[in-house]
Amino acid sequence: MTLLTLPSLCWALLILFVVVLAAEAQNTVTAKSGQDVVLPCRVPQGKTIRAVKWSRADLGDNYVLLYRDEQLDPENQHPSFKNRVDLQDRNMNNGDVSLVLKNVTTADDGSYNCKNIQRRDNFMGEHQHCQTAELTVAPVGVIAGLSVPAVLLVAAVVGFVIYRKHKQQNRDFN
Ligand SMILES: *[C@@H]1O[C@H](CO)[C@@H](O)[C@H](O)[C@H]1NC(C)=O
Repeated sequence: MTLLTLPSLCWALLILFVVVLAAEAQNTVTAKSGQDVVLPCRVPQGKTIRAVKWSRADLGDNYVLLYRDEQLDPENQHPSFKNRVDLQDRNMNNGDVSLVLKNVTTADDGSYNCKNIQRRDNFMGEHQHCQTAELTVAPVGVIAGLSVPAVLLVAAVVGFVIYRKHKQQNRDFN
């Protein structure tokens, strides 16, 4: 009887729901078209940050933002990010090198990589630190990022309801 496996299927869906939600919460930023977002990135403290480069894999040699010598370097910045990006804190206090991206569109969807060229306090070797932040932009009116977990949750609830109805019917017949 296939319906006997329904409760376990519902549990599996519920667990999947929690896992997906947790994964999405981790370093994923969801926004609606037109909003300003902050892509978080923090480097370990006690290190001198010499330069910060935010990039996205599909942009090739162009970057999203390059900050060095205490200013933004527009030279090889991808045109779509001109005048739309900045560091949240140019002083990079507490190692905060988060990116501010203004007026996002669905074209900004993607995986952003934060790379910091820094110098350890005790020796001269350079150390690179990488962190990734995912950005998901939904067209206005769509609940960004909730679609996959929502579908899982609805499927689990519907499964439970069907199962209970089926049990009830069996009891009525017997
Ligand atoms: C945001 O971007 C859209 C195009 O994507 C543009 O039409 C609009 O003027 C921009 N808004 C601001 C406040 O810059």
